[in-house]
Amino acid sequence: MQERLQELQTEAIQKVDQAAGLKELNDIRVAYLGKKGPITEVLRGMGKLSAEERPVIGALANEVREAISARIEAKQSELEEAAVQEKLAGESIDVTLPGRPVNVGSHHPLTKIIEEIEDLFIGMGYEIAEGPEVEQDYYNFEALNLPKGHPARDMQDSFYITEEILLRTHTSPVQARTMKKHQGKGPIKIICPGKVYRRDNDDATHSHQFMQIEGLVVGENIRMSDLKGTLDVFAKKMFGQDREIRLRPSFFPFTEPSVEMDISCKMCGGHGCSVCKQTGWIEILGAGMVHPNVLEMAGYDSKKYTGFAFGMGPERIAMLKYGVDDIRHFYTNDVRFLKQFAIEE
Ligand code: DAH
Repeated sequence: MQERLQELQTEAIQKVDQAAGLKELNDIRVAYLGKKGPITEVLRGMGKLSAEERPVIGALANEVREAISARIEAKQSELEEAAVQEKLAGESIDVTLPGRPVNVGSHHPLTKIIEEIEDLFIGMGYEIAEGPEVEQDYYNFEALNLPKGHPARDMQDSFYITEEILLRTHTSPVQARTMKKHQGKGPIKIICPGKVYRRDNDDATHSHQFMQIEGLVVGENIRMSDLKGTLDVFAKKMFGQDREIRLRPSFFPFTEPSVEMDISCKMCGGHGCSVCKQTGWIEILGAGMVHPNVLEMAGYDSKKYTGFAFGMGPERIAMLKYGVDDIRHFYTNDVRFLKQFAIEE
């Protein structure tokens, strides 16, 4: 029996030393030291031994059990330590590897133009106003001196939602809304940027959705020369000090007189080229003195108050400023196009 125990010890220790993993080690523990293991079996058979043999074998069996147990514990720490080392090696970071590039976005070119124009007018004491894109026929047309059936309504093909509600065709309704809010009292100095919608077929110069910036000044003694001076400052700040402006007579139902403003063509210096269609001038915006009917409808005394207004298209300004030849580029959001505007941020 002594021999059997010694053999078991040698055998178990050999297996423990060769164990490749914690699971295998645990299997060895169960096999040798478990309830059904050979050592337990030896101890169980002790009853058959003589009184002299019993303590000797008992002590030896305990020794063997402890020796195996100690070896298993040592091996276990060894394996655990190896596992930790392996994990650490796998998780180590190679700080010399090149980093992953992070894609940084940039402002949309139209946002940049609008912010530039806003800053410019805020610098002249204007406030920013806003209005709804889903608008009442009343504010979009009627309050702007365009009663139902007025032929000039055809100039702006509209998306109607109901008979009285439509997607605004211009930012001019914000004029009417702002004046109404002021309840017949001046002064007002606002610009209003926003989206507008028209039933146009999209092409290089048309889009069914585009941006406008409206301007409105109402007060006592506001004159045409104030409008001209304001637009001159705007044109020079936006396009360069060497630019000239010119006002041409035009028609808008909400202004009287009405004008269109051109700036001198930078490409050809005013001599005529393909950009300015050989005229030396490029049309930028519509403007005029607020029509007395519009003032009166909003509750202003048109004998006491006068005003000027203007409306421009940021897309057109961005196209001229950045040399973009197709309005659709602003709305298809091709990153190769948009990326070009990240440079000067
Ligand atoms: N609302 C006009 C348009 O969309 C632009 C415009 C012209 C606005 C003259 C004005 C203005 O305020 O005075 O075509």
